Amino acid sequence: MTLVSRYRHWAGFIAGLAIAASPVALSAQTVDVEAAEALLKANKCAKCHVLDRKKDGPSYKEIAKERAGKADSENALVKHLTTSPKVKIDGVEEEHKNIKAKNEAEIRNVVRYILTR
Ligand code: HEC
Repeated sequence: MTLVSRYRHWAGFIAGLAIAASPVALSAQTVDVEAAEALLKANKCAKCHVLDRKKDGPSYKEIAKERAGKADSENALVKHLTTSPKVKIDGVEEEHKNIKAKNEAEIRNVVRYILTR
């Protein structure tokens, strides 16, 4: 892929995000699954999390189950992904990876994706 066509690809992606970030599309349970999975992949979250089995981190299904019915889970998880909270892996404390994204809408989409697994 040439640099130019790659740039065009991203330009389209960003345009799509702008649409996804419109107030209507952002209503409660809207999830852009493709965008969420692409961002998780780009951030290598699968090193520690997959859909339905425990790795170094809990599975997304487990996280969704634990968070179900709790108030403000979306904001709590956005915070989890942006403030390097301390987590324990094999008894060793380390900072949780911060997610790299272009904007908060992208992060919220990933969080809603996780919460609806
Ligand atoms: C090095 C391993 C590792 C990586 C990489 C990692 N995590 Fe985690 N994550 C963990 C661990 C361990 C926990 C459990 C924290 C706990 O339960 O105390 C966790 C917890 C979480 C939670 C639940 C937080 C909560 O309060 O319920 C979410 C959501 C999450 N991770 C998402 C992600 C995303 C998205 C990425 C990629 C940007 C990512 N993680 C990358 C290890 C990792």
